[in-house]
Amino acid sequence: ITSEPNVLIEKRGRVTLLTLNRPHALNALNEATMNDLVAAATAADADPEVGAVVITGSAKAFAAGADIKEMAAKDYMEMYSSDWFRNWENLTRLRIPMIAAVSGFALGGGCELAMMCDFIIAGDNAKFGQPEINLGVLPGMGGSQRLTRAVGKAKAMDMILTGRMMNAEEAERSGLVARIVPADDVVEEAVQAAEVIASKSKPVAMIAKEAVNAAFETGLVQGVLFERRLFHSVFATEDQKEGMAAFVDKRTPEFKNR
Ligand code: CAA
Repeated sequence: ITSEPNVLIEKRGRVTLLTLNRPHALNALNEATMNDLVAAATAADADPEVGAVVITGSAKAFAAGADIKEMAAKDYMEMYSSDWFRNWENLTRLRIPMIAAVSGFALGGGCELAMMCDFIIAGDNAKFGQPEINLGVLPGMGGSQRLTRAVGKAKAMDMILTGRMMNAEEAERSGLVARIVPADDVVEEAVQAAEVIASKSKPVAMIAKEAVNAAFETGLVQGVLFERRLFHSVFATEDQKEGMAAFVDKRTPEFKNR
């Protein structure tokens, strides 16, 4: 029996496009799918030919959450012993820039997956939500933390306690989403943004990502110092020499990822 892969992996130049492929279940994220997604993103991270990753779903659903059917019968010891969802967190340890291209529903674990990416490009039909409360649970893959940091306490409480959805416009206004584009263009726009990123120096892009992430994880004084030290460190790269020389010479830089 041949079965469809959970995740489609496509290389487009220096961009890896990962497409969740369980449309019959609105891309509900079961364990196998998340393992495949993390493995594919980890491979892209390690591949010097790849400069950025785009994660997307289908037109109707980026992902409608963790797979409820897979979890429904589990008991506390099964969840605790397997440290359920732990592997998802590995996505956030990757250094390569990652963009979520969201069309349709990004709910529960789907919204959390989008928030684990570095930024979200949303189709104008996108709907974000953390509806776990309706199932008698709460967000389990970082939603209560990342949504709160993204949109602030008032909106995070509203979303997580009522389970309501946010449309693309509200999500952009609230700071959850970087850009809204017509729904049909969301993958192309995200791939184009990823191509722009991939045309830069990969190590410097990874360092810049680390610096922004420090804003979530440290206080201001520590974060600013961390940034300044990183800034000093990029002067050890050939790409800094090339980038600044190209500016002075009025030409396009050719980064070598060194
Ligand atoms: N898990 C498993 N299956 C799911 C699913 C999920 N999260 N979301 C949708 N599906 C399945 C449905 O069961 C249905 O399957 P069948 O055809 O076999 O019945 C199929 O996908 C299509 O879904 P619907 O018929 O429900 O489609 P709809 O258009 O009527 O509704 C929806 C769309 C509003 C998104 C609805 O599917 C829905 O509410 N889904 C669940 C959303 C949710 O609660 N997500 C949170 C999950 S828990 C979580 O994510 C925990 C965490 O923090 C990590």
